[in-house]
Amino acid sequence: MAIKFAERTNNMEGSAIRELLKLTQRPEIISFAGGMPAPELFPVQEMIDVSKKVLEENGRVAMQYTTTEGYAPLRTHLANRMNDKLKTNVVADDILITNGSQQCLDFIGKAFLDKDDIVLCESPSYLGAINAFNCYQPKFINVPTDENGMIMEELEKILEENDRVKFIYVIPDFQNPSGRTWPLERREKFMEIINKYEIPVAEDNPYGELRFEGEFLPSLKALDTKGLVMFLGTLSKILCPGYRLGWVAASPKILEKFNILKQASDLQASTISQMEMSKFFDLYSVDAHVEKLKEVYKKRRDVMLDSMKEFFPAEVTYTHPEGGLFTWVVLPEGIDAAVLLKEKALPRNVAFVAGEPFFPNGGHANTFRMNYSNMPEDKIKEGIESLGKAIKEAIEEMK
Ligand SMILES: Cc1ncc(COP(=O)(O)O)c(C=O)c1O
Repeated sequence: MAIKFAERTNNMEGSAIRELLKLTQRPEIISFAGGMPAPELFPVQEMIDVSKKVLEENGRVAMQYTTTEGYAPLRTHLANRMNDKLKTNVVADDILITNGSQQCLDFIGKAFLDKDDIVLCESPSYLGAINAFNCYQPKFINVPTDENGMIMEELEKILEENDRVKFIYVIPDFQNPSGRTWPLERREKFMEIINKYEIPVAEDNPYGELRFEGEFLPSLKALDTKGLVMFLGTLSKILCPGYRLGWVAASPKILEKFNILKQASDLQASTISQMEMSKFFDLYSVDAHVEKLKEVYKKRRDVMLDSMKEFFPAEVTYTHPEGGLFTWVVLPEGIDAAVLLKEKALPRNVAFVAGEPFFPNGGHANTFRMNYSNMPEDKIKEGIESLGKAIKEAIEEMK
């Protein structure tokens, strides 16, 4: 009997990054591929302490089911942190705890998209979001971007011409993959436009707290007066991803739908994970931990950018991220980064992610994403030197 899958599965592709990550686990590989935090900075001792306390003090609650919305004290901590760091005005009841922010990307697709509806996103955009939305068979329009993020005139033109836009997906702070950040004027203009068209916005913000330099900028959620912004947060990059704890802060009307989807999907996020994280917030300083991360990541970013300046040919350009985990590289037209990776970088034991999958409609094969958080400084320098040689060779061969 021939197995017949649902039509929607035809669009589904596994993440190119996850496939690549398998390859890059070889110890000899210097990997700039994953978006992984530095494991040596995970608060392991602190989590041993809090997990013991949670089990000793409240073990039977920790092992029980909890509410779909999430463990109330953790929701309160997250609401307070958002208000403190991002200048929002949310309360615990505005928050649903999810299994990483990735789960909420799926909920957004499920809640908003019928086949052939339109999703707007930045150009490039986060591959994991593209994959999540793709399950619901939308069409994507990449709104053109420049070094300051999404271009507002282009956004307005697209909204004028398309009436099936269901939501806009954006990462205004230290974007994955480009490392770019929208300045305040763009955020304000963006909110003006979405208020006019009343289009929901998914603001994905895993990296906002990891600012190494430049001025603090308010989140879109902080500028939201009509309840249109769904703010996606996560503990993955400021604490650790293994607990799989993220959250969404949204208006009651939207949150109600997500709540139903959460029940249908997995009832709730892990009780014990939520209680441990909440205890961490009670007993330790998240701020002090984030300061440590910023110090290390800033140094790694500096080494990466300095090494690129030293070893990359002058015709290669890259972004200067003010925070977060990534920089975005543009090669001369005609060089395919996927081929460069396979034929010249991996044989030199260096890995990155080729850029094309970050564009839902394809193209831009001459781009790639580099992560600097997961490798020590000496390896970053060594890897960039090798990559520089690989790129020079590819340019020579093109001539
Ligand atoms: C922009 C963006 N959104 C969402 C995620 C998913 O994070 P989480 O671990 O919270 O599911 C990531 C992870 O790299 C990301 O970069």
